[in-house]
Amino acid sequence: MTVALPETSAVLVMFLLAFLPPPRHAQDPAMVHYIYQRFQVLEQGLVKCTQATRAYIEDFREFSRNISVLLGRCQTHTSEYKSAVHNLALRVERAQREIDYLEYLRAADLCVEPEEKTLAETMLQEAEEDKKIRALLNASCDNMLMGIKSLKIVKKTMDPEGSWMKDTGSNSAKVYFFIGSRNNTVWEFVNMRAFMEDSTKPAPRKLMLPLSWQGSGQVIYKGFLFFHNQGTANEIIKYNLQKKTVEDRMLLPGGAGRAPVYAHSPSTYIDLAVDEHGLWAIHSGPGVQGYLVLTKIDPGTLGVEHAWDTPCRSRDAEAAFLLCGVLYVVYNSGGQGPHRVTCVYDPLGTIRDEDLPNLFFPRRPRSHSMIHYNSRDKQLYAWNEGNQIIYKLQTRRRLPQQ
Ligand SMILES: *[C@@H]1O[C@H](CO)[C@@H](O)[C@H](O)[C@H]1NC(C)=O
Ligand SMILES: *[C@@H]1O[C@H](CO)[C@@H](O)[C@H](O)[C@H]1NC(C)=O
Ligand SMILES: *[C@@H]1O[C@H](CO)[C@@H](O)[C@H](O)[C@H]1NC(C)=O
Repeated sequence: MTVALPETSAVLVMFLLAFLPPPRHAQDPAMVHYIYQRFQVLEQGLVKCTQATRAYIEDFREFSRNISVLLGRCQTHTSEYKSAVHNLALRVERAQREIDYLEYLRAADLCVEPEEKTLAETMLQEAEEDKKIRALLNASCDNMLMGIKSLKIVKKTMDPEGSWMKDTGSNSAKVYFFIGSRNNTVWEFVNMRAFMEDSTKPAPRKLMLPLSWQGSGQVIYKGFLFFHNQGTANEIIKYNLQKKTVEDRMLLPGGAGRAPVYAHSPSTYIDLAVDEHGLWAIHSGPGVQGYLVLTKIDPGTLGVEHAWDTPCRSRDAEAAFLLCGVLYVVYNSGGQGPHRVTCVYDPLGTIRDEDLPNLFFPRRPRSHSMIHYNSRDKQLYAWNEGNQIIYKLQTRRRLPQQ
């Protein structure tokens, strides 16, 4: 367009000339000169106009260039801004996630902390408990039962229920005879021979207790008779056999006495036992789960030293005894033989089920009314269908404790 301008002005001059009136007087030079000058002025004006237009266009171009540069810059800024905003958003999001995570950790801490405390406390308690139990059951005995070697019937009576025993805590030779499932009469024989030979000399001494016993769980330990007081749920009487007085009494806790201990010995609610470690009680637990509970009793103070829930069931059980701190429960099915130890409970956990052989008793017609271990002569004293029986045992050393 700019390039076309001079031609345009030339065309314009010719155009204007075409419209001028034809010269009437060719000899009027003044007039021609005047017109020529006017054209010159016009032409100069046109040139100025063209220059101004050109300058203006230049300016406009520059302006639009500037604008487009600015626009480009703006665009760049916009995209920079956009990406900055985007980055910021990402950072805010990340920060939020971090805050959430910290919040979660804090919340988790709150939850975990008391749990950890309880766990640590529990572990400490368990460790202390374990130490206590090990100290409690630390006798110089490490035998475990391997089998029943022989059976010896030492006496025959008509009574299906009852118990008999020696004092396992002293070297007294006396034999005590408890007939029936509840009575207050105890027969005392001077020795095993007098007991076996029945009503020959010397005659047994008749002891009348101020209270009656219940069941066949009585034991004699260090000159004292311990028995379940008949008519109470869980009272144990400590009777001084020499002074013939009630020395002490206790209520056995832990749901004792609510149910018979063994399904096949319905009159025994608390079965007491003595082994190398001292006095124990075997009884039912709280509720009606039907599992045996083992309680260690201090025979001096009648305080409970410890209690264990055992995995041994009452169902099909007929009797149980403790040997070297391990509970052996004798079972049969339907009140008849075979009689067999199928549940063993070791509070120290050193005897496992797989260590045990088949512990069968010689075949007997009925359930045992009682089976008590005598830690002094290391044999079992039992009562089965009126027969007083001694079972000789086969034992072996158990694996050393870790
Ligand atoms: C274009 O920009 C330059 C420098 O950026 C400036 O000097 C000039 O005056 C601007 N021109 C217009 C027409 O805005
Ligand atoms: C067990 O008793 C013996 C000696 O009577 C003693 O040396 C040992 O430290 C005791 N063990 C525990 C765990 O109490
Ligand atoms: C208690 O035992 C004596 C002698 O053994 C006996 O004569 C008496 O009948 C028994 N009493 C009960 C209630 O069984």
